[in-house]
Order: sequence, then structure tokens, then C-alpha cells
Amino acid sequence: MKVGIDKLHFASSHLYVDMAELATARKEAPDKYLIGIGQSKMAVIPPSQDAVTLAANAAAPMLTAEDIAAIDLLIVATESGVDNSKAAAIYVAQLLGLDRRVRTVEMKEACYAATAGVKLAQDHVRVHPAKKALVIGTDIARYGLHTPGEPTQGGGAMAMLISAEPQVLALADDSVLLSQDVMDFWRPLYHTTALVDGKYSSNIYIDYFQDVFKTYLNEQQANIADFKALTFHLPYTKMGLKALQSVLPLASETQQAALLAHFEHARQLNRQVGNLYTGSLYLSLLSLLLTDASLAADDLIGLFSYGSGAEGEFYTGRLQPNYQLGLDQGLPQRLARRRRVSVAEYEQLFNGQLALTAADQTIDIADDPHRFVLVGQQNEQRQYRDQWL
Ligand code: COA
Repeated sequence: MKVGIDKLHFASSHLYVDMAELATARKEAPDKYLIGIGQSKMAVIPPSQDAVTLAANAAAPMLTAEDIAAIDLLIVATESGVDNSKAAAIYVAQLLGLDRRVRTVEMKEACYAATAGVKLAQDHVRVHPAKKALVIGTDIARYGLHTPGEPTQGGGAMAMLISAEPQVLALADDSVLLSQDVMDFWRPLYHTTALVDGKYSSNIYIDYFQDVFKTYLNEQQANIADFKALTFHLPYTKMGLKALQSVLPLASETQQAALLAHFEHARQLNRQVGNLYTGSLYLSLLSLLLTDASLAADDLIGLFSYGSGAEGEFYTGRLQPNYQLGLDQGLPQRLARRRRVSVAEYEQLFNGQLALTAADQTIDIADDPHRFVLVGQQNEQRQYRDQWL
């Protein structure tokens, strides 16, 4: 029996800032952001969206009544949690109208946790093939204004339905993991933005990829030529390019060109959104599947997941014949329709998040077209609204 990703659907914001404009405002050469970092646009997440609403907005459009009836496991992976105790997944399950007999949990390990979710869901469905699991990676990447990490922000959520006989990607049981205590990126409880040793984290990322990918090749007696495409966690798209380039010497010249060409497809949508933390690898997978017309059924796709702190995993999946049916086909158009905000407006939205105080607060939702929104806080409880009701 095959188990894997049956559907993928993405949600982000209706707002973005242009990276060339941001570079100019920060007195940097635009090409540093456009080429050196590899980002063209950065999603600007308004105060009316948080990890919960992004997750619900990502999942709701892809779920049929039959899916909702079959889901008995919801894993929400995030490092942008909204409560120290209560799982974001409980709010999400309520907004989506999932059955009350569902296991709901929030998972955390920086940008890696959605992969843990996918692999746990894979095992769960293998044991309960009539059931489905919903895994959502949802985050708002915040490094702070005027910091080196600023151009590597962004935000959004990727929802994935894991089932038996999946439409999109049948997952193998071949993971190679690496987990060690590394202080490359972290966010102490008293910070709303991440602390990061940027250069160090980029080096650790490459080291982890080299380690798990080469171990995979040894363990599986595989060759880089077996892969149609390699996909990566993309905190910024140049990061994935560097990782890919680090293993290209293993490939023939023809295959090097092919892997680089597939990578361009795999970073196309991430280039327009920015960092997503947990959802980033899976937006890259979706980008590849939506934009690369040269893919075919049974192609082997490699996935490298990385979370600072640090944990890495390399695993694979095989493309299924009707994979296009499980994809968020409207995503490129939705990204193209977003509204461009000025750097001043982006800064205002960045600083307008719900304050971390006990006071009642109201958030202006007039400009937010998404179905699920955060409207404020009352009696120290976050208030969510379904704008369709
Ligand atoms: N044209 C083209 N490229 C240019 C350029 C220009 N005018 N000016 C600079 N660049 C290139 C640099 O050569 C560099 O490329 P390289 O890494 O391939 O050498 C890149 O742009 C970035 O420049 P750099 O000076 O290294 O940027 P920075 O010190 O401001 O910070 C990060 C870059 C990624 C370290 C920083 O944004 C960060 O800390 N991000 C968060 C951490 C992160 O995402 N880590 C990833 C692992 S999870």
C-alpha cells in the first residue's frame, strides 16, 4: 500500500513588499537581495493573520466533506505559536470544523517540524489506512527591521493531506536524520523576533545536507542520477542553490544542468513569498510540481528538511500519475494578484501585531480578504472570525 501526500494547498497574505525597493530603502544594492539572497518579493503578514488563521486558510479550500470525516489526526507545526500551553491545532480544528474525535497537537523544531509531522502522519496512515491526517506548517518569519535577516522574512502556511493511495507523492521509508544541539538560530521566550548567527546557520545547513544526503546514497546504494529533482528548505532561495551546488560534482555535466533547471522551478514561488519556516520545503515542492512541465509519473523527488537548533532529514517520494489533481492550481494567480505595499506600510504592519499585554485589543480586518482572520483579544483570549459566516 502506498502512503503519502494526497493534496497540498498554500495560504499567505494578500500583501507583499518589493525586494528591490526594500534594498534601496536599506541602502543595499538591489542585486544583493534579488540575486545574492535570491528573493524578488516578500509576503507582508498583516496583524489580522497569525499562525492559526494562516493554517486554517491554507487547509480549508482543499478539504472535502469526505476528507473532513476521515481526518483523525491534525498536526500543526510552527515556531510562531500563539500560546505557551494551548496548541494552535485546537483552534485550527475548530475553524475547519473537524470532528471532535480527532488527535490535535502542535509540534516545534524550528523550520523542521512539518517534516516530523509528515513522517508521523505517514506511519499513522500505514496503521489506519482508511483514515487521513492533516499536517500544516504555518509560520511568520520575523527577524526584525534593519537587521541582516530582514530580507529573509516572509510568512504563510502549507497544508498537506496525508492518505493511503495518495494523488501526489508516495513517500518511501528511507529517511536519514541528523539531530544535534547547535546554537545557530533560536528565539528566547521574551523575544518576538529570532536571534540568528546567519553565516553560521547557512554553514550548518550545508553541513547537514551533505551529511544526510551522502548517508542516504550510501545506505540505499543510490546515485544522484536516480533523482529527477532535489528540493530544499528555502529560508531564502540562494540557500537551496548553495546546497544543491555542494553535491553537483557527484553528477554528470548533463545531469548537473538538469538538476539546476528543476531547482529554478522549485524556487519560483518561494522567490515571491520569502521564508515560511516550517512550510518552506513544501512550498518549494509545490512550486516544482506546478511549474515544471518536464515531470512525469514515477519520478523520484528528494526532499531536504532543515530546522535550526538543529535537525535535518533527507527523504524521498515518487510522483503519482494524477499528481496535478492534488495541487493548489490557483496559487500562481493568487500570488500575482497581491497588493504591493511601500516600505513604510510594511514597517507599520510589522509593528502593528497584537501587543503582548493582557489588555483587550481590536484589530482592523477591513482590508483582509481571507476567510479566517484574527480580530483581537478579549479577556486574554484570542478572537478568531470566519468572515464567510
Ligand atoms: N549583487 C549580487 N550579489 C550580491 C551583491 C550584489 N550587489 N551584494 C552582495 N551579494 C551577495 C553576497 O556575495 C552573498 O552571496 P554568497 O552568500 O553566495 O556569498 C549574498 O549576497 C548575501 O550577502 P551577505 O553580505 O552575506 O549578506 P548579509 O551578511 O547581509 O546576510 C544572511 C545574509 C543570509 C546571512 C542574512 O540574511 C541572515 O542572517 N538570514 C537569516 C538566517 C538564515 O536564513 N539562515 C539560513 C539557514 S536556516
